[in-house]
Amino acid sequence: MERLDKFLSSSGVCTRSQGKAILKAGRVTVDGTVERDGARKIDPDTQTVCLDGEVLSGKRRVVLMLNKPAGFVTATEDPVEKTVMELLPPELRRLDVKPVGRLDKATEGLLLFTNDGDLLHRLISPKKEVPKVYYARHEGQAAQEDVQAFAAGLMLGDGTVCLPAELEPIGPGESRITLREGKYHQVRRMMASRGLTVTYLERRQEGALTLGELPRGAVRELTETEVRSLEP
Ligand code: URA
Repeated sequence: MERLDKFLSSSGVCTRSQGKAILKAGRVTVDGTVERDGARKIDPDTQTVCLDGEVLSGKRRVVLMLNKPAGFVTATEDPVEKTVMELLPPELRRLDVKPVGRLDKATEGLLLFTNDGDLLHRLISPKKEVPKVYYARHEGQAAQEDVQAFAAGLMLGDGTVCLPAELEPIGPGESRITLREGKYHQVRRMMASRGLTVTYLERRQEGALTLGELPRGAVRELTETEVRSLEP
């Protein structure tokens, strides 16, 4: 059961305050009867809610891509820090989206959000092995032994075992890293275990998805084709 005003706003048709006016105007029906009380509890699975005669199917599934800037924590709320939620326009935030996995406060780049809980769990499961590609600048130069250590599956200082990963040195103090899992501070800790200190980190790709032309700090909805490409 869910409040009617919450149902209306999470359907993406209005804000919570617009919902009040819409309800007051008698534009909403529940099972064919006009309902003006936003506090009324409804069951979206068994009841039919209409706005101006059009059936609302409830929460529209969305998957979003954000080009995260540094300085925001990946959390839905934080008492002190700015969160990635603040970067979403209100009409998208209203759809109850949550970040898929996390990027550290200092890390930039591709971060997905969705309001589909099943999809979220499938995407963060290491069993799915969606490759994630990072660009790192670091102190020290990655050598062939480091590349081999990544490929073999590194063990971190605290005993954490990492899945085999790719390390490609692409310039002096620059590397591309491909992971198939997302442990806490994973790239930074893997690099540190090889004596390489990451000074800048950006996620550039997840599966077939890249940031493309999306500016830093901007967000866009994925198309259905893009969503399907995440779950081959
Ligand atoms: N690895 C890290 O160390 N940080 C991130 O934000 C993502 C991967």
